[in-house]
Amino acid sequence: MLDDVLKTIDDDLPSSLERLSNLLRIESISTDPAYAADVGAAAEWLATDLAGLGFDASVRPTPGHPIVVAHDRRAASGPHVLFYGHYDVQPVDPLVEWATPPFEPQLVTVDGRDRIVARGASDDKGQLMTFVEACRAWLKVAGRLPVPVSMILEGEEESGSGSLKPFLVANADELRASVALVCDTAMWSPTRPAITIMLRGMVGEEFTVIAADRDLHSGLFGGAARNPNHVVADIVAGLHDVDGRVTLDGFYDGVGEPAEAIRAIWESLRFDQSAFLGSVGLSAPAGEAGRSVLEHIWSRPTAEVNGMIGGYTGDGFKTVIPAKASAKVSFRLVGDQNPERVRESFRAYVRSWLPSDCRVEFSPHGGSPALRLPHDGAAVAAARKALRDEWGVEPALVGSGGSIPVVGMFKQALGMDSLMVGFALDDDRIHSPNEKYDVASFRGGIRSWARILASLAE
Ligand code: BES
Ligand code: MN
Ligand code: MN
Repeated sequence: MLDDVLKTIDDDLPSSLERLSNLLRIESISTDPAYAADVGAAAEWLATDLAGLGFDASVRPTPGHPIVVAHDRRAASGPHVLFYGHYDVQPVDPLVEWATPPFEPQLVTVDGRDRIVARGASDDKGQLMTFVEACRAWLKVAGRLPVPVSMILEGEEESGSGSLKPFLVANADELRASVALVCDTAMWSPTRPAITIMLRGMVGEEFTVIAADRDLHSGLFGGAARNPNHVVADIVAGLHDVDGRVTLDGFYDGVGEPAEAIRAIWESLRFDQSAFLGSVGLSAPAGEAGRSVLEHIWSRPTAEVNGMIGGYTGDGFKTVIPAKASAKVSFRLVGDQNPERVRESFRAYVRSWLPSDCRVEFSPHGGSPALRLPHDGAAVAAARKALRDEWGVEPALVGSGGSIPVVGMFKQALGMDSLMVGFALDDDRIHSPNEKYDVASFRGGIRSWARILASLAE
């Protein structure tokens, strides 16, 4: 039966790509209110597609963007799985950097590899459709799925998942399953799949320093007036010491070191740090002194300034002392670091730096703890076997520097562990212009999920 399903997947690949293209044409940018109707349209598109497969599918309103929920309980036995993906995407700016329009998907061949180029191709529409297409093939060939399957497809992942936790709590009985399957992570390499067993957490925080009650002439007032740009720069500069360690009080509480077993797994991966940095035009690791690049991105916490705004930044020149300046800062968390404590420590640090005549305003942008997942359970074993069969190589057990808020929420609200398997590649340009997904990722992803479903049923 599985062989017939795999053959169907290959035969139907052109129509699978066609469906993915249709989803990619919908401009579902969740962070920008101007696109709210498009986000809703993507939810409707998915629910309609799943209903067509025989799922009991619905678009559920939330205070933010809708959540798509779908169930297929026709399988008589086997562990019930809950699949998660997100159908919202990041903004496309800077638009001029795109070689083709971000919402007009293009199939192109680069260095002999076919890829589909569009915003969301990899993060996460292409990835979530790998699972949908695997279900489609099983249903076409066998008339039923190997195990009972539910899906939850989110429209706010790229803007902080604000509505998700209350939704999970309110619908816990409907959504609880044996295990969650999450397809929003990367492969180890184009030929070796990965199971992600660690994710960093994240705290986002924006602050604005305000001094004078208006913008000032920098000649007439310069020297006498406090300049908020300088204050923000000082605050940002003080976040790290000369060794690259974050200076906030208590920041390293709960950080810890990876267990010996985890270190051994990492050793075996033979990570090439010069190739990793070289792939984006860099050469020198910039993180904490005395740590490897793999530690920098997987097991150490960070403070990053994602944006700074203040004064005149347009074309030409303007001699001005701005009334206010601000920065958007994010912290990646590991181990047992507490997101709210980090936020409080940061706010206290900023306040302690404020000179006379300055005040500060804060606005929070989400917080989620780091996660470690079991890697010896039945679901991981089933996935390892399935991935080995598909790719002909043992899947890598990896960490990830990124954050996926839902994984912690599944644990807290539903008591469920997640199995994170994804087929993105490091060169997919997620969140960047010219995002792409390899057709080999898409095809291999669909085939992998078809096998994982079968393997879970055994
Ligand atoms: N899918 C990514 C995270 C990711 C990418 C994990 C590749 C592992 C490998 C996700 O959509 C994402 O971008 N998350 C944000 C979270 C934030 C907006 C709350 C992140 O990590 O910045
Ligand atoms: Mn994602
Ligand atoms: Mn993302």
